[in-house]
Amino acid sequence: MFTTIAELRSFVASQRLSGKRIGLVPTMGALHEGHLSLVKMSNEQCDTTIVSIFVNPAQFGPNEDFARYPRTLDNDLRLLEPLGNPALFVPGVAEMYPAGFGTSVHVGGAALPFEGAIRLGHFDGVATVVLKLFLASQADAAFFGQKDYQQLCVLKKMTADLNLPIEIVMGPTIREPDGLAMSSRNRYLSEEERRRAAVLPQSLDAAERMIVTENQRSAEAVRHAIQDMILAAGGMAVDYIAVADPVTLQELTAIETEAVILLAVRLGSTRLIDNRLVS
Ligand code: PAJ
Repeated sequence: MFTTIAELRSFVASQRLSGKRIGLVPTMGALHEGHLSLVKMSNEQCDTTIVSIFVNPAQFGPNEDFARYPRTLDNDLRLLEPLGNPALFVPGVAEMYPAGFGTSVHVGGAALPFEGAIRLGHFDGVATVVLKLFLASQADAAFFGQKDYQQLCVLKKMTADLNLPIEIVMGPTIREPDGLAMSSRNRYLSEEERRRAAVLPQSLDAAERMIVTENQRSAEAVRHAIQDMILAAGGMAVDYIAVADPVTLQELTAIETEAVILLAVRLGSTRLIDNRLVS
C-alpha cells in the first residue's frame, strides 16, 4: 500500500519499464460490488491495477457529508484481497493537498447542469483530484462506473480537452437484487427509505419501456411518468429528472436516437442518483 505520490511514482516507473499496461480505479473507499466490478474490469484489460482510496474533500460542499462519509479501510482491503491484491494508493489529505495548494481544474459544459447545478464546485473538485491521480499513476486506462454518468462525461471531456494519454472506460452500474444502484450512501437509508428507493430503477425501467417499446418521443412525457411514479412511492423529494444527450448532457425535448435519463432524489438527508442509457 502506497501513501505518498513519490512511492506510487517509483512503483509505476518499474511497471512501465517492464512494459506493463496500467489500469487505475479511483475510489473514495467504502467499497462494494460496484467498485469491485471496475477492479475486475481493469484486471482483465491491464497487467497492473492500481486502486486509489481517497475521500476527496475538494468535491464535497460545505453542507455535504465529507465528515461522515464512511471510511472502512480494513474492510476495503479484505474485499480487494481476492482480486489479485491490486496496488493500493491511499494518500492522506495533506499528501494530495499540501498547505498552500492553490490550483484547480475548472470543468464547463457537461459539468454545469444537474449535479453541477446543485453541488456547486463538485465537478471541479472531482476533475482536480482525478487529474492528479492520472498524472501520479501514469495509467494507460482508468475505469469509472455508469452509476455516476455525469462524472464520467465530465472526465471524458477533460481527458479530450487536455489531450491526456489515458483511455476512459465505463463499467456497468451494479445493482442490489431489487434494482437499487449500489452506493456507499445506501447505508444511510432507514428500512422504510430503503424499501421505497426501489422505485428509482423501476421508474427508469418504465421510462425505457415508454421510449423503446411504446415509441414515446417526448422527453416531457417521459420525465412526467418518472416523476409520477417516484412521488407515488412517497417520502422522496426530486432534485431533477432529465432526458439528455448522452455526450453533451444537453436536455432534449424530442428523443430521436440515443438519450440518457438522469435523476436525483432526496430521501430524508440522503441523496440518491441513478441513470439509464436508451437507444
Ligand atoms: P466513488 O463514489 O467511491 O466511486 C468510485 C467509482 O465507483 C466511480 O467510478 C463510480 O462511478 C463507481 N461506482 C460507484 N457505485 C457503482 C455501482 N453501483 N456500479 C458501478 N460502479 C459504481 O466517484 C467517486 O468515488 C469519486 O468522485 C472519484 C472518481 C474517486 C474522485 O474522487
